[in-house]
Order: sequence, then C-alpha cells, then structure tokens
Amino acid sequence: MIIRKEEPGDIALIRDLTERAFAPMPYSDGTEAPIIDALRRDGDLTLSLVAVDGGLIGHVAFSPVTIEGVRNWYGLGPISVELSRQKQGVGSALVAEGLARLRDIGATGCALIGRPAVYGPMGFRSNGQLSYRGVDPAIVQFITFGDEPTGALRFAPAFDKDTAGT
Ligand SMILES: CC(C)(COP(=O)(O)OP(=O)(O)OC[C@H]1O[C@@H](n2cnc3c(N)ncnc32)[C@H](O)[C@@H]1OP(=O)(O)O)[C@@H](O)C(=O)NCCC(=O)NCCS
Repeated sequence: MIIRKEEPGDIALIRDLTERAFAPMPYSDGTEAPIIDALRRDGDLTLSLVAVDGGLIGHVAFSPVTIEGVRNWYGLGPISVELSRQKQGVGSALVAEGLARLRDIGATGCALIGRPAVYGPMGFRSNGQLSYRGVDPAIVQFITFGDEPTGALRFAPAFDKDTAGT
C-alpha cells in the first residue's frame, strides 16, 4: 500500500469510495462526497491523501478550522476506507501520514467529530472544553502539537451544509 496526495485522476474514485464507505453508516446523510468536492472548489482542501493498493482503497481530507485563541489548526474528514479493507490499519496509516504532513506545513493541531473507539487509538482525545454545535463533547476530539484548545470549533464553509465533521 502506498499513501500519496490526490491527483486529478483520483477525484471521481474518491467520490465513489466516499459514497460506498458512508452508505451503511447510520449517521451519514450522504453529504460527505459533496463536502470533499466543495472543499476542493473553495480552495479549502489543504491536504487530500489517498491509499492505493491495486486500486484506491482509502482517502482522507484535511481542511482549515478555526478555534478561538489558537492558530493553524486543521480538521480531519471526511475519511473513508473501502469496506473490505476496514479494520486493517488503512485509516490509521492515512491519519498518521496526514498528521505528519500537517506538522510539516506548520499545523499546531487537528480536530474532528467522530467515534472515540476509532480515533482514540489514533491518538485523538477530547477535553470537554472544545465544543461543536452542541454535540456530545466526547466526540469532539483533537490532537494538539501546542496549546490545549477551548471554545467553539468551526469547520470550513463546505461543512455548513452538514452537521458532521467526519
Ligand atoms: C472510520 C474508518 C475510516 C476507519 O478506517 P479503518 O481502516 O477501518 O481504521 P483502522 O483499521 O486503522 O482502525 C483504527 C481503530 O479504529 C477501530 N475501529 C475501526 N472501525 C471500527 C468500528 N466500526 N467500530 C469500532 N472501532 C473501529 C479499530 O479497531 C482501530 O482501533 P485499534 O487500533 O484499537 O484496533 C473506516 O471504518 C470507514 O471508512 N468507515 C466508513 C466511513 C466513516 O464512518 N468515516 C468516519 C466517520 S467517524
């Protein structure tokens, strides 16, 4: 498996993969693939990584977020792994590579909305102080490379059509 930045030829495959991966998820409203396209269109797709093994089997998007009092934070999501390749470390590998690349461009933290069972093992945690639209603070998770985040988390405008970060 290799992990690399998205290329123009990946865009339709990322859309299809995202639709397939989220389709069975009860919390999905089908907006995840359009969010990635909107991020790209808006110039907010800071980092888009694909995992390739034979074909495209995983994808993760990172985009700028704002949190009062901190700078250079990014949001993780959407993230998708091909159904037949889930729970084999592909998602963790995409996230680890993404975080390393974010640090290289000066990121001081990364936040997401998601299940602690999935993101806890990847190093994310919640602190009860970072909030997002009244959702359970336990699913507002982050990795900080600097200050502890407090206050309201805001994702890029592409997410405003939805209520979920990942
Ligand atoms: C979420 C997703 C990207 C994770 O990718 P993955 O390749 O399966 O993740 P990994 O194999 O690296 O697993 C990371 C951790 O999450 C856990 N995990 C993965 N899927 C899980 C699930 N459905 N329920 C509980 N834990 C899960 C793994 O056990 C692992 O923890 P461990 O190291 O303690 O074993 C993938 O399941 C997916 O595409 N889901 C559908 C789309 C989606 O829901 N995206 C994110 C919404 S929060």
